Amino acid sequence: MRILDGKKLSEKIKNKVKEEVDKLKKEGITPGLAVILVGNDPASQTYVKMKKGACEKVGMYSVVHEFPESISEKELLTTIEMINKNPNLHGLLVQLPLPKHIDTTKVLEAVAPEKDVDGFHPYNMGKLFEGLESFAPCTPLGVMELFKEYNINLKGKDICIVGASNIVGKPMLSLLLNAWATVDICHIETKDLATHTKRADIVIVGVGKPNLITADMVKEGAIVVDIGINKVDGKIVGDVDFENVSKKAAYITPVPGGTGPMTIAMLLKNTIKATKLQKENK
Ligand code: GUN
Repeated sequence: MRILDGKKLSEKIKNKVKEEVDKLKKEGITPGLAVILVGNDPASQTYVKMKKGACEKVGMYSVVHEFPESISEKELLTTIEMINKNPNLHGLLVQLPLPKHIDTTKVLEAVAPEKDVDGFHPYNMGKLFEGLESFAPCTPLGVMELFKEYNINLKGKDICIVGASNIVGKPMLSLLLNAWATVDICHIETKDLATHTKRADIVIVGVGKPNLITADMVKEGAIVVDIGINKVDGKIVGDVDFENVSKKAAYITPVPGGTGPMTIAMLLKNTIKATKLQKENK
């Protein structure tokens, strides 16, 4: 069994990003990221703090707009409009989830597609689905980088994705399809999950259920990617029974230290991409 070491790879990527930041700074451009955080969900607060810290570490400019839960949709849209127009902010992300009284689709659609470093705008989602150049969501993008780093060939592989969210499962499906894998996508209504996971060369899971994937659900020599983040007895665990599944798997991501740090590294990479795109289109 080999560990797919997201922590190590993310450090390597962040060093490369830092070099890019230094180069852009010499040209008088400091890549800038704006993050919008609404309400006081502790997980969201932690993620935003990590994103800001990562920007600072590579020398990017970052600004967090924090709003109370009670903010109106209109006020939020006005802030997005302001950031869209600010030439010093090249990337913009709205931390999800948003409060119930706010229409998430409307908010995500307000983000300028060229600043959409999360890849959640339908324009970028559509382009990704078509296999065209776009901003792809950071978590699935990070999984693809792990496959590349460990020379895992995806062509013709049977891949089972567990979880069909807009943030992870659906964009993951597009990226894998674009790489010519055969993809099976399971979700809450799937009749017999194990039937699907057992026949897969690669299992990718991100639903937020500890121990959902057990050793009897994966085949010998499978590659297992865990995107879940759960707190159990004060400890962070994924969706995979790591102890037992790792005895069977050829490769596996740990939690923490697997896909999590890769998500942040991809956000930085997307921000560089946005900065360069806006520089060219000036
Ligand atoms: N909430 C959970 N994951 C994410 C993410 O990757 N980006 C944003 N903006 N919100 C999230």
